[in-house]
Amino acid sequence: MPRLAQTVRVVGCGATKLGNRLGRSAGSLMAEAVQGALSSARLELDDLDGLIAVPSMSDPHLMEAHYLATKIGLLPKKNFLVRTIDTGGAGPVTALLEGRRMIEAENCQAVVIAAGDAVSSLSTEEFLRRADAGIGCDRLPSPAIPNGYGLITDWHAKTYGVTREQLAKVPCLMSHQASKHPHAITRRRYTVEEVLESPQITPQLNLLECARRMDGAGAIIVASSRFLEKRGLLNKGNHGNGDVVILSGGEASGPLSPPVVIDETMFSCEQAAQSAYYEAQVRPDEIDFFGLYDCFPICFLRAIEAVGICPKGQGGRWIDEQYERILADENYVLPVNTHGGLLSFGAPWEAPAIFAVIEAVRQLNGVAGAQQVAEDCRRALVYGNGGIFSSSAVAILSKPIQFNKTQAAAGVASSPKL
Ligand code: CAA
Repeated sequence: MPRLAQTVRVVGCGATKLGNRLGRSAGSLMAEAVQGALSSARLELDDLDGLIAVPSMSDPHLMEAHYLATKIGLLPKKNFLVRTIDTGGAGPVTALLEGRRMIEAENCQAVVIAAGDAVSSLSTEEFLRRADAGIGCDRLPSPAIPNGYGLITDWHAKTYGVTREQLAKVPCLMSHQASKHPHAITRRRYTVEEVLESPQITPQLNLLECARRMDGAGAIIVASSRFLEKRGLLNKGNHGNGDVVILSGGEASGPLSPPVVIDETMFSCEQAAQSAYYEAQVRPDEIDFFGLYDCFPICFLRAIEAVGICPKGQGGRWIDEQYERILADENYVLPVNTHGGLLSFGAPWEAPAIFAVIEAVRQLNGVAGAQQVAEDCRRALVYGNGGIFSSSAVAILSKPIQFNKTQAAAGVASSPKL
């Protein structure tokens, strides 16, 4: 494990309230989330020397990050780096890895990452006009995104035998999780019957199986440990609950959406996850919390197999088992998406993976209360997906790692449990 992994810390997280039709612009939501992240990190605006933003659909700007940085008073400023990252829903995780790179390679001390949108404030017609146009509506009927995921669902069912009921259980799992999270929009647990009876959106998907369109924003601050040490803030981030280390990351690309050919070659989460596991030198069974993209059940199914929660082709069976467990025990904590994911926490377009990162930080700091996945949550994996499987970004986070003198001299680190 490279010693460099110790140098970049997630020290602050902020989020706005999520809601339907909040009547605020994406920029104002992101600005509020940035303020929250700064206060969680005990830093001031002036401490930042980098900003990364993920573009919004409801209030788009050329160079979103420049727009946001100017709006909150960070630009014009000398020696300030600004980047807009557009890898679709993978954006917040790509941005986290880019923030790490800006600190390791571009000498930044503290970089804020912001993502947010106000897509529930758009009418259905306007939302679908923009979403369909973005995805290539000439080859898919409206709503293009659900229809694109629907075709992949058909392919998966034919190839691996996942059933309609197994897929409909995914929103049940996510609503079970969300119902216990203080900030999730979904407050009630769904049954599989309810999901199957909700309005049909495409031949393969019903309303409760679609990412829940929402307004809201999140922000994360990453900082160099040298800067934190100098400021007396090392291991004091995230509202005093401690820093989190970015251990590793991986990214991979699939074809532009919608894919012309649907087969195994179009999926990229496997490659992104493998790169992240390889860099961190950890195995899937050494991850205690998974924050996985679940815009539609098929995305969740692909993700649990890709990150090694269950073997390839066994995702449907794993979902059945988990469904039985939540039926048997309403306090059961599934170690995946304890916030409820896109299906049940809420999904402001390209932003929702930022809430998975924030949840990972909460779990690693052991402050998730009744939803805490393990008393000593050692590592968390987060995955973001862009377009219709067009982009994958995976990051592995951990608590700061202890060095003993010999390991430090050899450049090797270990956590107390390794
Ligand atoms: N769970 C519970 N309730 C839900 C829900 C869910 N998953 N989804 C929608 N609802 C609720 C809404 O909150 C709303 O409730 P209220 O009437 O009380 O406000 C009601 O159901 C109707 O929802 P909508 O207003 O959204 O319904 P609609 O008829 O206007 O549109 C839809 C339906 C076409 C399916 C639309 O919801 C939709 O397109 N959803 C998918 C959004 C999407 O494609 N997101 C991107 C996913 S891909 C991705 O994330 C990758 C990337 O790169 C961006």
